[in-house]
Amino acid sequence: MLAELQDITKHYNQALTVRQKPVLEGVSLQIGDNESIAITGPSGSGKTTLLNILGTLDRPDSGLVILNGMNVSDMKETELADLRNGFIGFVFQLHFLLPQLSLLENVLLPVLPLKDKAARKAGRERAIRLIESMGLQDLIHQRPSRLSVGECQRAAVVRALVNKPRLLLADEPTGSLDAETAARLGLLLASLKREEALSLVVVTHSPELAGQMDKIYKLGSGKLLPISKG
Ligand SMILES: Nc1ncnc2c1ncn2[C@@H]1O[C@H](COP(=O)(O)OP(=O)(O)O)[C@@H](O)[C@H]1O
Ligand SMILES: [Mg+2]
Repeated sequence: MLAELQDITKHYNQALTVRQKPVLEGVSLQIGDNESIAITGPSGSGKTTLLNILGTLDRPDSGLVILNGMNVSDMKETELADLRNGFIGFVFQLHFLLPQLSLLENVLLPVLPLKDKAARKAGRERAIRLIESMGLQDLIHQRPSRLSVGECQRAAVVRALVNKPRLLLADEPTGSLDAETAARLGLLLASLKREEALSLVVVTHSPELAGQMDKIYKLGSGKLLPISKG
């Protein structure tokens, strides 16, 4: 098992409210090697919360997060930071590319903290290859303001993959794209998953994108339930 959530509970404390219903109430999920999973559900149902807990950006109230066989609650913050930079790749709904950097400089950001010079060189070569596979090679020196939203989102995918993560977490990656661009990104994600030793968890409202994943789950009323693919 590459990653696992066991019986996760999470609620947010809000001032002035007496007792808040938990956002996640006993959520379990197993993510196998090279498996792709779609998480659907209405807005406000806790999809982002679930993804943030899986990506160790947030902590559950109770339950276990196990990544690569390690219980993350036993890990120090510095170990977690290394895990986040190497084992996990994140793609958000907004691409968060830095406006003052070129496309290439943006996608190389995760390579900069690597201490090993050979690893930085390999990361750079991999970035160039991924940029080509995403069809962005002619835009490599452009700043994000010169790119379309779809091109920025593909660059964000390259940035998430540059350190060869085993687990890619994407939160509504096609949420700001038109249908055609969204479909194209979906195909790219599906083909990346076939070509790499990569597992994917994609939060999406798009039935097309969800349909390209191996398994589909729906989050609602704090529970995560599998949906059979039709
Ligand atoms: N930092 C926070 N503090 C308080 N409430 C939050 C916080 N983040 C999310 N929530 C609440 O938790 C619920 C689930 O949010 P979220 O995980 O963002 O859902 P989704 O991604 O499915 O739209 C919502 O009711 C939201 O308002
Ligand atoms: Mg969300």
